[in-house]
Amino acid sequence: MISESTRVRFDREVAKYPADQKQSAVMACLAIVQQEQGFVSADSEKLIAEYLGMPPIAVHEVTTFYNMYNQQPLGKFKLNVCTNLPCQLRSGQTALEHLCGRLGVEEGGTTADGLFTVQKSECLGACADAPVMLVNDRQMCSFMSEQRLDELVDTLRAAK
Ligand code: FES
Repeated sequence: MISESTRVRFDREVAKYPADQKQSAVMACLAIVQQEQGFVSADSEKLIAEYLGMPPIAVHEVTTFYNMYNQQPLGKFKLNVCTNLPCQLRSGQTALEHLCGRLGVEEGGTTADGLFTVQKSECLGACADAPVMLVNDRQMCSFMSEQRLDELVDTLRAAK
């Protein structure tokens, strides 16, 4: 069941679109759920589908298309390292492997203390700054050398 406060937030997003196009708010509703719960569960997808009047599979397609939506609980800091070609040509894969090694996790894994999840990502649209990564789907980090990766981990650990 959608809480009253969540419904108010959904309503605000839906109001941005014509009445017969409220499905356009699906990404915003998914983002609200993730912000409140940390991830988007299958049950949440069904609630959003019902609220927007669209098939649950259509909501699931959006959730699974964009890697900013978490389909399960992740670490406090979600670290996405771009491994598309321009970043690959400037050590994107090395950056990913260094980060995984530093944190002792496989790609896609979460550290035992629940602080960090490391994932690879598609192009983040900042290829000239390669290798590039994103923290918690919001903060873009450029030119991520091994030294800068280590500094980022230390900074985030200190900020927990
Ligand atoms: Fe990495 Fe574009 S390929 S930001």
